[in-house]
Amino acid sequence: MDGADDAAADPDRDPALGEVVVSEADLRGRVAELGKEITGDYRGRTPLLVGVLKGAFMFMSDLSRQVELPVEFDFMAVSSYGSATKTSGVVRIVKDLDLDLTGRHVLVVEDIVDSGLTLNYLLKNLQARNPASLEVCALLLKEGQQKVEPPLRYVGFTIPSDFVVGYGLDVAERYRNLPEIRIYEGALA
Ligand code: IMP
Repeated sequence: MDGADDAAADPDRDPALGEVVVSEADLRGRVAELGKEITGDYRGRTPLLVGVLKGAFMFMSDLSRQVELPVEFDFMAVSSYGSATKTSGVVRIVKDLDLDLTGRHVLVVEDIVDSGLTLNYLLKNLQARNPASLEVCALLLKEGQQKVEPPLRYVGFTIPSDFVVGYGLDVAERYRNLPEIRIYEGALA
């Protein structure tokens, strides 16, 4: 390993990583609460969790283990046009769902809502597929950044508008495996 890789492997020595915004313990606690809420709200039904790749994979994995109901999974991957950090609202579906949503209780699991444009587009697209219900569980909501206000049934944490990484969130595919959410202070494209 060279020096740069060494630093990146240790969050406290990587100069691009700033303060912890949500700790591992807080994530664990809040994900358990959300799982409990979802269990209560969906009792008697089999929700279909729709994860938005790649950012939501870790949250979805942990959340689903806190839902004490039969659940099913599907995934979608989207790429948004715009810079690496600012979404334009024009979204391309890179990987579509495998399952038919007709009559299903769909719960979209999203990593972070910034402008809200990506989610807004997705919800319109999914609503057109005639689910019985369509709700969103977003881990993070950036305070005051929304250009549109997609309906969010469940929100993990409201955070300041800094760019953050970890727990599934990346910069150029790095840092997704950090166990906590941290401010990213390095260069952004
Ligand atoms: P929106 O369309 O502006 O709400 O952007 C949502 C998408 O942008 C998220 O699903 C993420 O993929 C990405 N994103 C927005 N803010 C951040 C951040 O702070 N860190 C990592 N990805 C982010």
